[in-house]
Amino acid sequence: QKPAKGSHSWKSPSNIALVKYWGKTTPQIPANPSISFTLNNCHTITTLTYTKQTTVSADFSFDVFLDGELKPGFAPKIEVFLKRIEIYMPFLKEYHFKIETSNSFPHSSGIASSASGMSALALCLMSMEREFVANMDDGLFLKKASFLARLGSGSACRSIEGPIVTWGTHKEIKNSSDFYGILYTEEVNDVFKNYQDTILLVDVGEKRVSSTVGHNLMNNHPFAEERFVQANSNLSKLRSIFKSGNLEKFIEVVESEALTLHAMMMTSMPYFILMKPNTLKIIEKVWEYRKETGSHLCFTLDAGANVHLLYPEAEKETVLQFIKNELVAYCKKGKYICDQIGFGARKL
Ligand code: PMV
Repeated sequence: QKPAKGSHSWKSPSNIALVKYWGKTTPQIPANPSISFTLNNCHTITTLTYTKQTTVSADFSFDVFLDGELKPGFAPKIEVFLKRIEIYMPFLKEYHFKIETSNSFPHSSGIASSASGMSALALCLMSMEREFVANMDDGLFLKKASFLARLGSGSACRSIEGPIVTWGTHKEIKNSSDFYGILYTEEVNDVFKNYQDTILLVDVGEKRVSSTVGHNLMNNHPFAEERFVQANSNLSKLRSIFKSGNLEKFIEVVESEALTLHAMMMTSMPYFILMKPNTLKIIEKVWEYRKETGSHLCFTLDAGANVHLLYPEAEKETVLQFIKNELVAYCKKGKYICDQIGFGARKL
């Protein structure tokens, strides 16, 4: 018996990829496997309220609110998402949905809200489905939530669980799948416990090139095949790095992945650059700092100009001092966000 109405809320985090997903085929199948740290503080909270309609509508019926404000501008993205998942959730058109969402970070901070936002919405829909589907165990619930989230935004499938998640088939990772993210359950050295991610906000505002356009430019990209081979090999390397705790090697893989991602953008046709002068200034400063102090601070980038600084918890105090003294000057309005690896989404 399907419910006449109800409501569910989920808090779902953002994530930062170490091996990057860049390139996909329909329907949201990654060209290479990726792995990410789930974040703890950067998150979206979504409440989904559903009311059964008297007749099944021809179109999806929903309103989206961000921080209490109606946002018709978000509708097309949600519409695409609902269309993609309809065959897996055939009851959607029987309901009217109110989607209320808010982010822990400012909307215009340049931090992508698609991973946290789409995973939160997918989880709300799963909670709704769970009300009338018998025998749905937690394993199946999380797997399908990740599967659906992937159809909203690829990287969103890595936000359901934590602290480390892989997505995409990889020959050495058991049960890895192109269809959903899985929790990384192999041995991880204690140095990665509470690993820190301080996000330096270099450029705020809308991305000039959407990740969908970027992914598509990997079709017919002259270096695509080599890149996909490299991503697989970097994931293999990370497996042994997680086990050994070799931070020098970790830095090498992570920074190379970030620069390769941006190199793919610079060498696609049309080409584009998402880094800003201050992104490069920060990278140089990080390299200098590492040379001078022997620190294990490193950087990674997503599809934008902001810099994620990754470092062990043991270095927290010294690195934060360095950020305050030397890097804040390169941040928009001096803004940065302190985060660390977290354990995935939570029902509210
Ligand atoms: O999930 P999308 O389609 O926005 O793509 C995200 C791509 C990167 O953030 C650049 C890399 C990744 O694996 O998260």
